[in-house]
Amino acid sequence: MTKTLIYAHRGASKLAPENTMPAFELAKAAGAEGIETDVQLTKDHIPILIHDENLRRTTNGTGFVQDYTYAELRHLDAGSWFSSKYSDSYIVTLEEFLRWFRHQPMVLNVELKTNVIEYRNIERIVYDCLKRHQVLERTVISSFNAETLCRMKKINPSVETAFLTSTKMRNLPGYAKSIDADALHVKHRLLDKKLVKHCQKNRLNLRIYTVNRPSMMKKCFQLGCNGIFTDVPHQAIEYRDQWLK
Ligand code: G3P
Ligand code: MG
Repeated sequence: MTKTLIYAHRGASKLAPENTMPAFELAKAAGAEGIETDVQLTKDHIPILIHDENLRRTTNGTGFVQDYTYAELRHLDAGSWFSSKYSDSYIVTLEEFLRWFRHQPMVLNVELKTNVIEYRNIERIVYDCLKRHQVLERTVISSFNAETLCRMKKINPSVETAFLTSTKMRNLPGYAKSIDADALHVKHRLLDKKLVKHCQKNRLNLRIYTVNRPSMMKKCFQLGCNGIFTDVPHQAIEYRDQWLK
């Protein structure tokens, strides 16, 4: 039986502001095996960890990530929107995150946010950063944008790539194979037994997002999905230990 790995979605994002160092530290403390994070580029081409293209929701800034240098973004408060306790949290670079992550016994999912804005050269920039920190072997690169994944495979065919989707398609595993992806990361409502079987037959890893409800966690564990992305890794670990005893 495949053990389903628990990835903290944007860190332990129910407990601390998403994609900040406190959220990643709490993911580790919860015992999550993995971390999922979202990457975009600043105006000066620095990869940073943030989910939205716009700064409004998760910082005290306005406008778009791509219009500011990292030096400008570094001053923003990326924690108060969540709780005043986190008012000193800031947007972290991929570089700074990896300086911490490389010493953690965890796996990583870097999601390249290129489905709205196609950040030029993001694949090469992120690849070089992951390589410098020697974490490529335990990293899966995902994207909703298939072209991003193809570009990553061109840089290095041995990097694990995952096609992300929330759209029902007749032959999703076939599509993933056709773009040379190694995994499928799908929204929870697309999960059924047939998809699991089809992925196994095609030797594709199957991971599910965003799994916060216990009943959905149970389904993922029992079907033998390779991983789940959850905002509540502490709960997922507790449930997995209970159900798979
Ligand atoms: O990578 C899984 C999940 O994070 C994809 O959706 O919007 O939460 O980045 P989103
Ligand atoms: Mg994501």
